[in-house]
Amino acid sequence: MDIHQAIRLRRSLKPEQLRPDPVERSLLEQLFEAANWAPSHGLTEPWRFIVFTGESRRELADAVVVTMSPEGQPPLAADDPARIGMIERLTKIPAIIAIVSASSSNPKIVEHEELLSTAMAVQNMHLTARALGLGGFWSSGKKAFDPRMANFLGLSAPARCLGFFYVGWPAVAWPEGQRRPALEKVSWR
Ligand SMILES: Cc1cc2nc3c(=O)[nH]c(=O)nc-3n(C[C@H](O)[C@H](O)[C@H](O)COP(=O)(O)O)c2cc1C
Repeated sequence: MDIHQAIRLRRSLKPEQLRPDPVERSLLEQLFEAANWAPSHGLTEPWRFIVFTGESRRELADAVVVTMSPEGQPPLAADDPARIGMIERLTKIPAIIAIVSASSSNPKIVEHEELLSTAMAVQNMHLTARALGLGGFWSSGKKAFDPRMANFLGLSAPARCLGFFYVGWPAVAWPEGQRRPALEKVSWR
């Protein structure tokens, strides 16, 4: 698959669109190798990844459940359908990769540049996943940004979790994408 096809055909496949079968570690390593070639101002290389496969997915799911209750309040009860649903959903995803941006201490490089570089690293992973026939999905939201998640991941400021990248083999026909026309977003001077 050439780069143009990978860009055009890259899609987000939701967890329910992935097969539960494990993904070989060597393939995941190809994603990280691709991520590692993202650009960064001053070559700070701020992207970091924490991989959850097998049993560790349950530990991550439990940490996500904690973020589903406001701080200071008890976690959802063991029989709460939202808790059960979240655990079931996450433990079926073959590989969950926490996306972390670890800003450098270089004062010339502002944090948003580091976040942008990390996003580019994720795009490299996602395009490579597409080329390998693997589904990928960037999931963010409250669970990713909650300080209790940072604590679970062992992050301390300025390192930040930007979300989770889900990876697995597709269980569905490859989804169609949708975009408004490119030139609607361009002005020429
Ligand atoms: C930074 C970022 C965060 C995202 N977080 C979520 C999310 O929390 N939930 C979700 O449904 N999709 C999330 N997405 C995926 C988008 O919904 C998806 O990219 C968009 O629908 C376009 O679909 P495509 O990737 O197949 O082209 C996120 C994407 C990005 C880039």
